[in-house]
Amino acid sequence: MKKPEYHIFVCNSFRLTGGAQGVCNKKEAVSLLQYIEQEILDRGIDAMISSTGCLKACEKGPIMMIYPVNYWYGEITEEVVDQVLDALQEGRAAEKYLIAESPQA
Ligand code: FES
Repeated sequence: MKKPEYHIFVCNSFRLTGGAQGVCNKKEAVSLLQYIEQEILDRGIDAMISSTGCLKACEKGPIMMIYPVNYWYGEITEEVVDQVLDALQEGRAAEKYLIAESPQA
């Protein structure tokens, strides 16, 4: 199996019990997953997308992380996704939407 160049994670507030019920999910993160998937295909970006549980940055949700570049973005909307992916294709971060510190720090 060939690894993708990028792995994009989008918080969807999944709980250990399997349900999605949290801030990011309430802020339409599910539809963002579909939007990001389509944009990745349209742009030809070699990326895999995964949905996650709470990333402990709920106040800035929905949250999107891109690895291996380790970019964490907050308050994601379709417009923000467009700018984030534009920047990714240019080999840089969309600074305006970066979360300044890792919420795990
Ligand atoms: S529910 Fe998404 S960061 Fe907490």
